[in-house]
Amino acid sequence: MASRFPAAWLDELRSRSDIIQVVSGYVALKKSGRNYWGLCPFHGEKTASFSVDPEQQLYYCFGCKAGGNVFSFIMDMERLNFGEAVELLADRAHMPMPEMVNDEDYERRRTRRERLLDANRRAARYYHELLFRPEGAASLAYLRKRGLSDGVIRKFGLGAAPNGWTALTDYMTGQGFTLEELSAVGLTVVKPPEGGSGKTRAFDMFRNRAIFPIIDMYKNVLAFGGRSLDGQEPKYLNTSDTPVFNKRKGVYAANLLRQQRHLDRVILVEGYMDVVSLSQFGVEGVCATLGTALTNEQARLLRRFAPQVYLGYDGDSAGQNAILRGLNIFDEEGIPARVLVFPDGLDPDEFIRRDGVEGFRQLPSISPTAYRLRRAKEKHDLSDREGRLAYAREGLGVLDRLDPLERDVYLKDLEIDTGFSRETLMEMLSLLDREKKDAPAAEAPPPRRRPAPPPKAASPADGDVSAQETLLSCLATGQIPKDMLSEKDFDDDELKSLYSSLISGMSPAAALDLAPDDEARSRYARILLYPVAEDTDQIMIMASQCLKRIHRASLQREYDEKQSRINAMPAGDPAVPALLQEMMDIRRRLDAIR
Ligand code: UTP
Ligand code: MN
Repeated sequence: MASRFPAAWLDELRSRSDIIQVVSGYVALKKSGRNYWGLCPFHGEKTASFSVDPEQQLYYCFGCKAGGNVFSFIMDMERLNFGEAVELLADRAHMPMPEMVNDEDYERRRTRRERLLDANRRAARYYHELLFRPEGAASLAYLRKRGLSDGVIRKFGLGAAPNGWTALTDYMTGQGFTLEELSAVGLTVVKPPEGGSGKTRAFDMFRNRAIFPIIDMYKNVLAFGGRSLDGQEPKYLNTSDTPVFNKRKGVYAANLLRQQRHLDRVILVEGYMDVVSLSQFGVEGVCATLGTALTNEQARLLRRFAPQVYLGYDGDSAGQNAILRGLNIFDEEGIPARVLVFPDGLDPDEFIRRDGVEGFRQLPSISPTAYRLRRAKEKHDLSDREGRLAYAREGLGVLDRLDPLERDVYLKDLEIDTGFSRETLMEMLSLLDREKKDAPAAEAPPPRRRPAPPPKAASPADGDVSAQETLLSCLATGQIPKDMLSEKDFDDDELKSLYSSLISGMSPAAALDLAPDDEARSRYARILLYPVAEDTDQIMIMASQCLKRIHRASLQREYDEKQSRINAMPAGDPAVPALLQEMMDIRRRLDAIR
Protein backbone atom coordinates (compact mmCIF):
# COMPACT_ATOMS: atom_id res chain seq x y z
CA MET A 1 0.00 0.00 0.00
CA ALA A 2 2.88 2.29 -0.70
CA SER A 3 1.52 5.49 -1.97
CA ARG A 4 3.62 8.47 -2.73
CA PHE A 5 3.64 12.09 -3.66
CA PRO A 6 2.88 12.60 -7.36
CA ALA A 7 6.12 13.17 -9.23
CA ALA A 8 4.87 16.34 -10.92
CA TRP A 9 3.80 17.82 -7.60
CA LEU A 10 7.20 17.03 -6.07
CA ASP A 11 8.91 18.65 -9.05
CA GLU A 12 6.77 21.73 -8.54
CA LEU A 13 7.62 21.84 -4.84
CA ARG A 14 11.29 21.39 -5.61
CA SER A 15 11.25 24.25 -8.07
CA ARG A 16 9.48 26.50 -5.58
CA SER A 17 11.93 25.58 -2.82
CA ASP A 18 15.09 27.10 -4.17
CA ILE A 19 18.03 25.39 -2.51
CA ILE A 20 20.03 28.59 -2.15
CA GLN A 21 17.18 30.25 -0.27
CA VAL A 22 16.48 27.24 1.88
CA VAL A 23 20.12 26.63 2.80
CA SER A 24 20.64 30.34 3.45
CA GLY A 25 18.14 30.02 6.26
CA TYR A 26 20.74 27.94 8.11
CA VAL A 27 24.12 28.74 6.59
CA ALA A 28 25.72 32.00 5.46
CA LEU A 29 26.51 31.47 1.79
CA LYS A 30 28.86 33.36 -0.49
CA LYS A 31 28.95 33.10 -4.25
CA SER A 32 32.21 32.07 -5.82
CA GLY A 33 32.29 30.86 -9.39
CA ARG A 34 29.22 28.89 -10.32
CA ASN A 35 28.50 27.77 -6.78
CA TYR A 36 27.76 29.15 -3.37
CA TRP A 37 29.98 28.28 -0.43
CA GLY A 38 29.59 28.24 3.34
CA LEU A 39 30.60 26.53 6.57
CA CYS A 40 29.15 23.03 6.59
CA PRO A 41 26.27 22.73 9.08
CA PHE A 42 26.87 18.99 9.40
CA HIS A 43 30.38 19.07 10.78
CA GLY A 44 32.46 21.69 12.58
CA GLU A 45 34.83 23.55 10.30
CA LYS A 46 36.59 26.87 9.98
CA THR A 47 37.01 27.10 6.22
CA ALA A 48 34.07 26.74 3.91
CA SER A 49 33.92 23.38 2.16
CA PHE A 50 30.16 23.19 1.84
CA SER A 51 29.07 24.01 -1.69
CA VAL A 52 25.63 24.56 -3.13
CA ASP A 53 24.96 24.41 -6.82
CA PRO A 54 22.06 26.67 -7.83
CA GLU A 55 21.81 25.15 -11.27
CA GLN A 56 21.60 21.50 -10.28
CA GLN A 57 19.87 22.41 -6.99
CA LEU A 58 22.26 20.21 -5.00
CA TYR A 59 24.70 20.58 -2.14
CA TYR A 60 27.86 18.70 -1.36
CA CYS A 61 30.39 19.07 1.44
CA PHE A 62 33.97 18.36 0.43
CA GLY A 63 34.84 17.96 4.09
CA CYS A 64 32.35 15.47 5.46
CA LYS A 65 30.85 14.40 2.14
CA ALA A 66 27.29 15.13 3.14
CA GLY A 67 25.37 15.70 -0.04
CA GLY A 68 21.86 15.86 -1.37
CA ASN A 69 18.99 18.00 -2.55
CA VAL A 70 16.66 20.39 -0.79
CA PHE A 71 14.63 17.55 0.74
CA SER A 72 17.60 15.73 2.22
CA PHE A 73 18.98 19.03 3.48
CA ILE A 74 15.80 19.63 5.48
CA MET A 75 15.72 15.99 6.61
CA ASP A 76 19.24 16.35 8.00
CA MET A 77 18.86 19.83 9.48
CA GLU A 78 15.46 19.31 11.04
CA ARG A 79 15.86 15.60 11.70
CA LEU A 80 12.75 14.68 9.74
CA ASN A 81 11.91 11.76 7.54
CA PHE A 82 11.21 12.32 3.87
CA GLY A 83 7.45 12.80 4.19
CA GLU A 84 7.85 15.27 7.05
CA ALA A 85 10.50 17.26 5.19
CA VAL A 86 8.22 17.46 2.17
CA GLU A 87 5.38 18.67 4.35
CA LEU A 88 7.52 21.37 5.94
CA LEU A 89 8.69 22.69 2.58
CA ALA A 90 5.18 22.55 1.12
CA ASP A 91 3.98 24.57 4.05
CA ARG A 92 6.67 27.20 3.55
CA ALA A 93 5.91 27.33 -0.17
CA HIS A 94 2.18 27.60 0.53
CA MET A 95 1.48 24.54 -1.57
CA PRO A 96 -1.48 22.42 -0.47
CA MET A 97 -0.61 18.76 0.11
CA PRO A 98 -1.53 16.65 -2.91
CA GLU A 99 -3.61 13.51 -3.29
CA MET A 100 -1.24 10.61 -2.80
CA VAL A 101 -0.95 8.36 -5.83
CA ASN A 102 -0.30 4.66 -6.21
CA ASP A 103 2.65 3.91 -8.37
CA GLU A 104 3.62 0.33 -9.03
CA ASP A 105 7.15 1.03 -10.06
CA TYR A 106 7.73 3.08 -6.94
CA GLU A 107 6.06 0.38 -4.94
CA ARG A 108 8.46 -2.25 -6.16
CA ARG A 109 11.45 -0.07 -5.34
CA ARG A 110 10.37 1.28 -2.00
CA THR A 111 7.94 -1.20 -0.51
CA ARG A 112 10.41 -3.93 0.31
CA ARG A 113 12.66 -1.57 2.25
CA GLU A 114 9.71 0.07 3.94
CA ARG A 115 8.20 -3.25 4.93
CA LEU A 116 11.48 -4.53 6.34
CA LEU A 117 11.99 -1.34 8.34
CA ASP A 118 8.41 -1.57 9.52
CA ALA A 119 9.03 -5.14 10.68
CA ASN A 120 12.03 -3.98 12.69
CA ARG A 121 10.12 -1.09 14.20
CA ARG A 122 7.29 -3.31 15.34
CA ALA A 123 9.65 -5.91 16.70
CA ALA A 124 11.48 -3.21 18.67
CA ARG A 125 8.21 -1.99 20.12
CA TYR A 126 7.18 -5.56 20.98
CA TYR A 127 10.48 -6.26 22.77
CA HIS A 128 10.26 -2.96 24.61
CA GLU A 129 6.73 -3.59 25.82
CA LEU A 130 7.56 -7.13 26.93
CA LEU A 131 10.34 -5.79 29.13
CA PHE A 132 7.74 -4.51 31.57
CA ARG A 133 5.58 -7.65 31.46
CA PRO A 134 6.12 -11.01 33.18
CA GLU A 135 7.75 -12.52 30.08
CA GLY A 136 10.43 -9.85 30.24
CA ALA A 137 11.11 -10.04 33.97
CA ALA A 138 14.48 -11.76 33.61
CA SER A 139 15.75 -9.15 31.14
CA LEU A 140 14.45 -6.27 33.23
CA ALA A 141 16.11 -7.70 36.33
CA TYR A 142 19.34 -8.02 34.39
CA LEU A 143 19.30 -4.43 33.13
CA ARG A 144 18.50 -3.15 36.61
CA LYS A 145 21.31 -5.25 38.03
CA ARG A 146 23.58 -3.44 35.56
CA GLY A 147 22.38 -0.24 37.18
CA LEU A 148 20.16 1.11 34.43
CA SER A 149 17.25 3.39 35.32
CA ASP A 150 13.83 3.12 33.72
CA GLY A 151 14.50 6.49 32.14
CA VAL A 152 17.58 5.38 30.27
CA ILE A 153 15.93 2.08 29.35
CA ARG A 154 13.17 4.06 27.67
CA LYS A 155 15.55 6.52 26.08
CA PHE A 156 17.35 3.68 24.28
CA GLY A 157 14.19 1.62 23.75
CA LEU A 158 15.78 -1.43 25.37
CA GLY A 159 13.71 -4.57 25.36
CA ALA A 160 13.33 -8.23 26.26
CA ALA A 161 13.35 -11.24 24.00
CA PRO A 162 11.42 -13.83 25.99
CA ASN A 163 12.64 -17.29 26.78
CA GLY A 164 10.53 -19.21 24.27
CA TRP A 165 11.12 -20.31 20.71
CA THR A 166 8.53 -18.51 18.65
CA ALA A 167 7.04 -15.63 20.64
CA LEU A 168 8.24 -12.90 18.31
CA THR A 169 7.76 -14.90 15.12
CA ASP A 170 4.17 -15.70 16.11
CA TYR A 171 3.46 -12.11 16.97
CA MET A 172 4.95 -10.77 13.75
CA THR A 173 3.25 -13.25 11.44
CA GLY A 174 0.07 -12.28 13.23
CA GLN A 175 0.85 -8.71 12.18
CA GLY A 176 0.99 -9.78 8.53
CA PHE A 177 4.72 -10.23 7.98
CA THR A 178 5.90 -13.27 6.06
CA LEU A 179 8.57 -15.69 7.27
CA GLU A 180 10.63 -14.63 4.29
CA GLU A 181 10.56 -11.00 5.44
CA LEU A 182 11.29 -11.90 9.05
CA SER A 183 14.21 -14.01 7.98
CA ALA A 184 15.49 -11.27 5.67
CA VAL A 185 15.84 -8.86 8.60
CA GLY A 186 17.34 -11.57 10.79
CA LEU A 187 14.54 -11.73 13.35
CA THR A 188 13.51 -15.29 12.54
CA VAL A 189 15.64 -18.29 11.67
CA VAL A 190 13.96 -20.36 8.97
CA LYS A 191 15.13 -23.93 8.46
CA PRO A 192 14.06 -25.86 5.36
CA PRO A 193 12.24 -29.17 5.94
CA GLU A 194 14.45 -32.10 6.96
CA GLY A 195 13.84 -35.42 5.21
CA GLY A 196 10.77 -36.19 3.13
CA SER A 197 7.82 -35.38 5.35
CA GLY A 198 9.35 -32.62 7.50
CA LYS A 199 7.92 -29.16 7.78
CA THR A 200 9.68 -25.81 7.52
CA ARG A 201 10.82 -24.82 10.99
CA ALA A 202 10.96 -21.23 12.09
CA PHE A 203 12.13 -19.86 15.41
CA ASP A 204 13.17 -16.55 16.97
CA MET A 205 16.74 -15.40 16.47
CA PHE A 206 16.81 -13.65 19.85
CA ARG A 207 15.71 -15.74 22.82
CA ASN A 208 16.13 -14.95 26.49
CA ARG A 209 18.21 -11.86 25.83
CA ALA A 210 18.09 -8.15 26.69
CA ILE A 211 17.59 -6.27 23.44
CA PHE A 212 19.42 -3.15 22.22
CA PRO A 213 17.73 -1.79 19.08
CA ILE A 214 20.12 -0.14 16.62
CA ILE A 215 18.47 3.03 15.32
CA ASP A 216 19.80 5.34 12.62
CA MET A 217 19.64 9.11 12.55
CA TYR A 218 16.29 9.11 10.78
CA LYS A 219 14.88 6.94 13.60
CA ASN A 220 14.73 3.82 11.46
CA VAL A 221 15.27 0.63 13.45
CA LEU A 222 17.94 -1.15 11.42
CA ALA A 223 18.98 -4.09 13.56
CA PHE A 224 19.33 -5.48 17.08
CA GLY A 225 21.96 -6.54 19.56
CA GLY A 226 20.92 -9.09 22.18
CA ARG A 227 22.82 -9.45 25.49
CA SER A 228 22.73 -12.86 27.11
CA LEU A 229 21.45 -12.85 30.68
CA ASP A 230 23.16 -15.85 32.14
CA GLY A 231 26.63 -16.11 30.68
CA GLN A 232 25.48 -17.86 27.56
CA GLU A 233 27.63 -17.46 24.45
CA PRO A 234 27.83 -15.38 22.47
CA LYS A 235 27.62 -12.57 24.98
CA TYR A 236 26.11 -10.33 22.34
CA LEU A 237 24.17 -11.69 19.41
CA ASN A 238 23.85 -9.14 16.62
CA THR A 239 21.78 -8.95 13.47
CA SER A 240 24.09 -9.76 10.57
CA ASP A 241 23.99 -7.59 7.49
CA THR A 242 20.53 -7.41 5.91
CA PRO A 243 19.00 -5.46 3.04
CA VAL A 244 18.45 -2.58 5.48
CA PHE A 245 21.54 -2.92 7.67
CA ASN A 246 25.25 -2.68 7.03
CA LYS A 247 27.20 -2.82 10.26
CA ARG A 248 30.21 -1.16 8.67
CA LYS A 249 28.26 1.99 7.92
CA GLY A 250 26.38 2.82 11.08
CA VAL A 251 27.05 3.47 14.72
CA TYR A 252 25.01 2.59 17.78
CA ALA A 253 22.98 5.56 19.11
CA ALA A 254 23.17 7.62 15.90
CA ASN A 255 19.55 8.57 16.59
CA LEU A 256 20.54 10.27 19.83
CA LEU A 257 23.66 11.93 18.42
CA ARG A 258 21.37 13.56 15.93
CA GLN A 259 19.33 15.21 18.64
CA GLN A 260 22.31 16.63 20.50
CA ARG A 261 23.10 19.84 18.71
CA HIS A 262 26.41 21.63 18.83
CA LEU A 263 28.40 18.83 20.38
CA ASP A 264 32.04 19.81 20.66
CA ARG A 265 33.12 16.19 20.48
CA VAL A 266 31.75 12.71 19.94
CA ILE A 267 32.92 9.93 22.26
CA LEU A 268 33.33 6.64 20.49
CA VAL A 269 33.28 3.56 22.71
CA GLU A 270 33.24 -0.17 22.08
CA GLY A 271 30.09 -1.46 23.67
CA TYR A 272 26.34 -0.93 23.77
CA MET A 273 26.46 -0.97 27.56
CA ASP A 274 29.15 1.70 27.60
CA VAL A 275 26.97 4.03 25.55
CA VAL A 276 23.89 3.49 27.67
CA SER A 277 25.76 3.74 30.92
CA LEU A 278 27.68 6.94 30.08
CA SER A 279 24.45 8.42 28.85
CA GLN A 280 22.72 7.61 32.12
CA PHE A 281 25.46 9.51 33.94
CA GLY A 282 24.74 12.53 31.76
CA VAL A 283 27.63 12.28 29.31
CA GLU A 284 26.50 13.50 25.89
CA GLY A 285 27.50 12.52 22.39
CA VAL A 286 28.41 8.89 23.02
CA CYS A 287 28.16 6.17 20.39
CA ALA A 288 29.72 2.82 19.56
CA THR A 289 30.77 0.83 16.55
CA LEU A 290 28.70 -2.29 16.05
CA GLY A 291 30.97 -5.07 17.19
CA THR A 292 33.53 -4.47 14.42
CA ALA A 293 36.69 -2.44 14.01
CA LEU A 294 36.12 1.19 13.08
CA THR A 295 35.64 1.77 9.34
CA ASN A 296 36.31 4.86 7.24
CA GLU A 297 32.58 5.19 6.59
CA GLN A 298 31.86 5.33 10.30
CA ALA A 299 34.60 7.90 10.83
CA ARG A 300 33.03 10.12 8.18
CA LEU A 301 29.60 9.66 9.72
CA LEU A 302 30.92 10.85 13.09
CA ARG A 303 32.37 13.99 11.57
CA ARG A 304 28.83 15.03 10.80
CA PHE A 305 27.99 15.26 14.48
CA ALA A 306 30.99 17.06 15.95
CA PRO A 307 34.33 18.59 14.99
CA GLN A 308 36.40 16.01 16.86
CA VAL A 309 36.24 12.50 18.20
CA TYR A 310 37.41 11.08 21.52
CA LEU A 311 38.26 7.40 21.42
CA GLY A 312 37.09 5.80 24.65
CA TYR A 313 37.90 2.17 24.08
CA ASP A 314 38.27 -0.47 26.76
CA GLY A 315 41.37 -0.35 28.92
CA ASP A 316 42.26 -3.97 28.07
CA SER A 317 44.88 -4.80 25.48
CA ALA A 318 42.38 -5.52 22.70
CA GLY A 319 40.82 -2.11 23.23
CA GLN A 320 44.18 -0.37 23.31
CA ASN A 321 45.27 -1.94 20.05
CA ALA A 322 41.99 -0.94 18.49
CA ILE A 323 42.84 2.65 19.44
CA LEU A 324 46.01 2.61 17.33
CA ARG A 325 44.04 1.34 14.33
CA GLY A 326 41.24 3.83 14.98
CA LEU A 327 43.68 6.76 15.15
CA ASN A 328 45.06 5.81 11.75
CA ILE A 329 41.58 5.85 10.29
CA PHE A 330 40.84 9.29 11.74
CA ASP A 331 44.16 10.48 10.33
CA GLU A 332 43.22 9.14 6.91
CA GLU A 333 39.96 11.04 7.04
CA GLY A 334 41.56 14.18 8.43
CA ILE A 335 39.39 14.10 11.56
CA PRO A 336 40.91 15.48 14.77
CA ALA A 337 40.88 12.77 17.43
CA ARG A 338 41.97 12.34 21.02
CA VAL A 339 42.23 9.34 23.30
CA LEU A 340 40.68 8.67 26.68
CA VAL A 341 42.65 6.03 28.50
CA PHE A 342 40.67 4.19 31.14
CA PRO A 343 42.80 3.02 34.05
CA ASP A 344 43.11 -0.51 35.41
CA GLY A 345 41.85 -2.22 32.26
CA LEU A 346 38.33 -0.92 32.90
CA ASP A 347 35.79 -0.22 30.19
CA PRO A 348 33.91 3.11 30.24
CA ASP A 349 30.87 1.57 31.92
CA GLU A 350 32.91 0.01 34.70
CA PHE A 351 34.95 3.19 35.12
CA ILE A 352 32.06 5.60 35.44
CA ARG A 353 30.35 3.30 37.94
CA ARG A 354 33.53 3.21 40.00
CA ASP A 355 34.65 6.84 39.78
CA GLY A 356 31.42 8.60 38.89
CA VAL A 357 30.86 11.30 36.33
CA GLU A 358 33.38 13.54 38.11
CA GLY A 359 36.08 10.95 37.65
CA PHE A 360 35.07 10.67 34.04
CA ARG A 361 35.26 14.40 33.43
CA GLN A 362 38.67 14.60 35.04
CA LEU A 363 40.05 11.79 32.91
CA PRO A 364 42.73 13.47 30.79
CA SER A 365 42.49 13.13 27.03
CA ILE A 366 45.68 12.41 25.17
CA SER A 367 46.73 13.54 21.71
CA PRO A 368 47.27 10.83 19.10
CA THR A 369 51.00 11.50 19.10
CA ALA A 370 51.32 11.32 22.86
CA TYR A 371 49.32 8.12 22.79
CA ARG A 372 51.43 6.52 20.09
CA LEU A 373 54.62 7.52 21.89
CA ARG A 374 53.30 6.11 25.13
CA ARG A 375 52.53 2.80 23.48
CA ALA A 376 55.95 2.68 21.84
CA LYS A 377 57.61 3.46 25.15
CA GLU A 378 55.82 0.62 26.93
CA LYS A 379 57.41 -1.85 24.56
CA HIS A 380 60.97 -1.02 25.49
CA ASP A 381 63.11 -1.28 28.59
CA LEU A 382 64.43 2.23 29.08
CA SER A 383 66.86 1.22 31.80
CA ASP A 384 68.79 -0.48 29.08
CA ARG A 385 70.84 1.20 26.33
CA GLU A 386 69.52 -1.02 23.59
CA GLY A 387 66.02 -0.37 24.81
CA ARG A 388 66.49 3.40 24.74
CA LEU A 389 67.89 3.22 21.24
CA ALA A 390 65.00 1.09 20.02
CA TYR A 391 62.51 3.46 21.61
CA ALA A 392 64.21 6.47 20.05
CA ARG A 393 63.91 4.87 16.62
CA GLU A 394 60.29 3.96 17.06
CA GLY A 395 59.41 7.30 18.63
CA LEU A 396 61.00 9.21 15.79
CA GLY A 397 58.90 7.13 13.40
CA VAL A 398 55.85 8.55 15.15
CA LEU A 399 57.12 12.15 15.06
CA ASP A 400 58.09 11.82 11.45
CA ARG A 401 54.57 12.49 10.25
CA LEU A 402 54.06 15.65 12.30
CA ASP A 403 54.48 19.24 11.29
CA PRO A 404 57.63 20.91 12.69
CA LEU A 405 55.87 22.77 15.49
CA GLU A 406 54.19 19.69 16.86
CA ARG A 407 57.40 17.75 16.45
CA ASP A 408 59.19 20.20 18.63
CA VAL A 409 56.87 19.59 21.56
CA TYR A 410 57.35 15.86 21.53
CA LEU A 411 61.05 15.87 20.69
CA LYS A 412 61.62 17.26 24.15
CA ASP A 413 59.87 14.27 25.71
CA LEU A 414 61.89 11.92 23.58
CA GLU A 415 65.06 13.70 24.58
CA ILE A 416 64.29 13.21 28.24
CA ASP A 417 63.20 9.59 27.92
CA THR A 418 66.06 8.37 25.77
CA GLY A 419 68.93 10.60 26.86
CA PHE A 420 69.86 11.35 23.26
CA SER A 421 70.56 14.98 22.49
CA ARG A 422 68.14 16.97 20.42
CA GLU A 423 70.78 17.31 17.68
CA THR A 424 71.21 13.55 17.45
CA LEU A 425 67.47 13.01 17.36
CA MET A 426 67.03 15.64 14.64
CA GLU A 427 69.79 14.05 12.61
CA MET A 428 68.12 10.66 12.89
CA LEU A 429 64.84 12.21 11.80
CA SER A 430 66.36 13.58 8.63
CA LEU A 431 67.94 10.18 7.97
CA LEU A 432 64.49 8.63 8.33
CA ASP A 433 63.13 11.15 5.87
CA ARG A 434 65.76 10.23 3.34
CA GLU A 435 65.14 6.49 3.78
CA LYS A 436 61.49 7.12 3.20
CA LYS A 437 62.14 8.95 -0.02
CA ASP A 438 64.22 6.04 -1.24
CA ALA A 439 61.63 3.43 -0.34
CA PRO A 440 58.30 5.21 -0.41
CA ALA A 441 56.05 2.18 -0.41
CA ALA A 442 57.45 0.58 2.73
CA GLU A 443 55.29 0.32 5.82
CA ALA A 444 54.95 4.07 6.15
CA PRO A 445 52.31 5.30 8.55
CA PRO A 446 49.45 7.07 6.84
CA PRO A 447 50.33 10.68 6.12
CA ARG A 448 48.65 13.16 8.37
CA ARG A 449 45.57 15.08 7.37
CA ARG A 450 45.58 13.76 3.87
CA PRO A 451 42.26 14.66 2.32
CA ALA A 452 40.55 11.33 1.91
CA PRO A 453 40.33 10.01 -1.62
CA PRO A 454 36.74 9.76 -2.72
CA PRO A 455 35.53 6.35 -1.65
CA LYS A 456 34.67 4.29 -4.65
CA ALA A 457 32.36 1.34 -4.49
CA ALA A 458 34.86 -0.41 -6.70
CA SER A 459 35.66 -4.09 -6.63
CA PRO A 460 38.95 -5.35 -8.03
CA ALA A 461 37.15 -6.49 -11.15
CA ASP A 462 35.73 -3.04 -11.81
CA GLY A 463 36.67 -1.05 -14.81
CA ASP A 464 37.49 2.61 -14.66
CA VAL A 465 35.07 3.81 -11.97
CA SER A 466 36.20 7.42 -11.95
CA ALA A 467 35.68 7.67 -15.71
CA GLN A 468 32.21 6.24 -15.23
CA GLU A 469 31.46 8.82 -12.57
CA THR A 470 32.72 11.67 -14.71
CA LEU A 471 30.68 10.41 -17.61
CA LEU A 472 27.59 10.69 -15.43
CA SER A 473 28.66 14.20 -14.44
CA CYS A 474 28.67 15.06 -18.13
CA LEU A 475 25.30 13.42 -18.69
CA ALA A 476 23.83 15.47 -15.83
CA THR A 477 24.63 18.70 -17.67
CA GLY A 478 22.06 17.66 -20.26
CA GLN A 479 24.50 18.65 -22.98
CA ILE A 480 25.53 15.32 -24.42
CA PRO A 481 23.34 13.16 -26.65
CA LYS A 482 21.70 10.43 -24.64
CA ASP A 483 22.46 7.69 -27.15
CA MET A 484 26.15 8.33 -26.76
CA LEU A 485 26.25 5.96 -23.79
CA SER A 486 24.42 2.94 -22.49
CA GLU A 487 23.82 1.12 -19.24
CA LYS A 488 26.56 -1.34 -20.16
CA ASP A 489 29.13 1.40 -19.63
CA PHE A 490 28.58 1.26 -15.87
CA ASP A 491 29.80 -1.42 -13.53
CA ASP A 492 28.00 -1.12 -10.25
CA ASP A 493 24.32 -0.94 -9.42
CA GLU A 494 24.51 2.55 -7.94
CA LEU A 495 25.92 4.03 -11.12
CA LYS A 496 23.56 2.04 -13.34
CA SER A 497 20.63 3.31 -11.36
CA LEU A 498 21.80 6.93 -11.48
CA TYR A 499 22.29 6.50 -15.21
CA SER A 500 18.76 5.29 -15.77
CA SER A 501 17.30 8.09 -13.66
CA LEU A 502 19.13 10.72 -15.69
CA ILE A 503 18.41 9.05 -19.01
CA SER A 504 14.69 8.92 -18.15
CA GLY A 505 14.78 12.70 -17.95
CA MET A 506 14.77 13.07 -14.22
CA SER A 507 16.49 16.21 -12.91
CA PRO A 508 19.67 15.64 -10.89
CA ALA A 509 17.89 16.84 -7.75
CA ALA A 510 15.06 14.38 -8.30
CA ALA A 511 17.49 11.54 -9.02
CA LEU A 512 18.94 11.99 -5.53
CA ASP A 513 15.71 10.90 -3.92
CA LEU A 514 16.26 7.44 -5.35
CA ALA A 515 19.65 6.88 -3.72
CA PRO A 516 19.47 3.63 -1.74
CA ASP A 517 21.26 5.02 1.32
CA ASP A 518 23.16 7.96 2.79
CA GLU A 519 26.51 6.96 1.40
CA ALA A 520 25.06 6.56 -2.09
CA ARG A 521 23.31 9.90 -1.84
CA SER A 522 26.58 11.59 -0.99
CA ARG A 523 28.24 9.82 -3.92
CA TYR A 524 25.46 10.93 -6.28
CA ALA A 525 25.73 14.52 -5.07
CA ARG A 526 29.49 14.50 -5.59
CA ILE A 527 29.05 13.16 -9.14
CA LEU A 528 26.25 15.55 -10.03
CA LEU A 529 28.09 18.56 -8.64
CA TYR A 530 31.31 17.73 -10.45
CA PRO A 531 32.40 20.97 -12.12
CA VAL A 532 32.33 19.91 -15.75
CA ALA A 533 33.24 22.46 -18.37
CA GLU A 534 30.89 25.25 -19.35
CA ASP A 535 30.65 24.85 -23.06
CA THR A 536 29.17 21.93 -24.92
CA ASP A 537 32.23 21.17 -27.02
CA GLN A 538 34.38 20.69 -23.99
CA ILE A 539 31.79 18.56 -22.28
CA MET A 540 31.57 16.40 -25.40
CA ILE A 541 35.34 16.00 -25.45
CA MET A 542 35.37 15.07 -21.78
CA ALA A 543 32.56 12.54 -22.25
CA SER A 544 34.19 10.87 -25.18
CA GLN A 545 37.48 10.61 -23.35
CA CYS A 546 35.68 8.95 -20.47
CA LEU A 547 33.97 6.56 -22.85
CA LYS A 548 37.32 5.63 -24.35
CA ARG A 549 38.75 4.91 -20.95
CA ILE A 550 35.72 2.84 -20.02
CA HIS A 551 35.80 0.82 -23.21
CA ARG A 552 39.50 0.31 -22.90
CA ALA A 553 39.16 -0.90 -19.32
CA SER A 554 36.44 -3.33 -20.26
CA LEU A 555 38.38 -4.70 -23.25
CA GLN A 556 41.45 -5.01 -21.09
CA ARG A 557 39.44 -6.96 -18.58
CA GLU A 558 38.20 -9.32 -21.28
CA TYR A 559 41.76 -9.71 -22.47
CA ASP A 560 43.03 -10.52 -18.98
CA GLU A 561 40.25 -13.05 -18.45
CA LYS A 562 41.19 -14.94 -21.56
CA GLN A 563 44.83 -14.76 -20.61
CA SER A 564 44.19 -16.32 -17.24
CA ARG A 565 41.99 -18.99 -18.79
CA ILE A 566 44.86 -19.94 -21.05
CA ASN A 567 47.26 -19.92 -18.13
CA ALA A 568 45.03 -22.40 -16.33
CA MET A 569 44.88 -24.79 -19.28
CA PRO A 570 47.19 -27.74 -19.74
CA ALA A 571 49.81 -27.23 -22.44
CA GLY A 572 48.54 -28.17 -25.88
CA ASP A 573 44.88 -27.77 -25.01
CA PRO A 574 43.00 -27.59 -28.33
CA ALA A 575 41.04 -24.54 -27.15
CA VAL A 576 44.14 -22.39 -26.87
CA PRO A 577 44.55 -21.27 -30.48
CA ALA A 578 41.00 -19.94 -30.68
CA LEU A 579 41.46 -18.04 -27.44
CA LEU A 580 44.72 -16.59 -28.69
CA GLN A 581 42.95 -15.46 -31.82
CA GLU A 582 40.30 -13.73 -29.72
CA MET A 583 42.97 -12.05 -27.67
CA MET A 584 44.61 -10.72 -30.80
CA ASP A 585 41.28 -9.31 -31.93
CA ILE A 586 40.85 -7.57 -28.62
CA ARG A 587 44.38 -6.18 -28.82
CA ARG A 588 43.55 -4.79 -32.25
CA ARG A 589 40.40 -3.12 -30.95
CA LEU A 590 42.35 -1.73 -28.02
CA ASP A 591 44.90 -0.23 -30.38
CA ALA A 592 42.13 1.29 -32.45
CA ILE A 593 40.79 3.14 -29.41
CA ARG A 594 44.13 4.64 -28.54
P1 UTP B 1 32.69 -6.21 25.30
O1 UTP B 1 32.98 -7.64 25.51
O2 UTP B 1 33.69 -5.19 25.72
O3 UTP B 1 31.31 -5.96 25.98
O4 UTP B 1 32.31 -5.99 23.79
P2 UTP B 1 30.75 -4.83 26.92
O5 UTP B 1 30.23 -3.71 26.11
O6 UTP B 1 31.68 -4.52 28.04
O7 UTP B 1 29.50 -5.60 27.44
P3 UTP B 1 29.09 -5.96 28.91
O8 UTP B 1 29.43 -4.76 29.72
O9 UTP B 1 29.83 -7.18 29.29
O10 UTP B 1 27.61 -6.21 28.75
C1 UTP B 1 32.16 -4.74 23.21
C2 UTP B 1 31.20 -4.82 22.07
O11 UTP B 1 31.61 -5.82 21.16
C3 UTP B 1 30.50 -6.47 20.58
C4 UTP B 1 29.28 -5.74 21.14
O12 UTP B 1 28.93 -4.69 20.25
C5 UTP B 1 29.79 -5.22 22.44
O13 UTP B 1 29.01 -4.15 22.91
N1 UTP B 1 30.42 -7.89 20.96
C6 UTP B 1 31.01 -8.37 22.07
C7 UTP B 1 29.69 -8.71 20.16
O14 UTP B 1 29.15 -8.29 19.15
N2 UTP B 1 29.56 -10.04 20.48
C8 UTP B 1 30.13 -10.55 21.59
O15 UTP B 1 29.97 -11.75 21.87
C9 UTP B 1 30.88 -9.70 22.40
MN1 MN C 1 31.32 -3.81 29.91
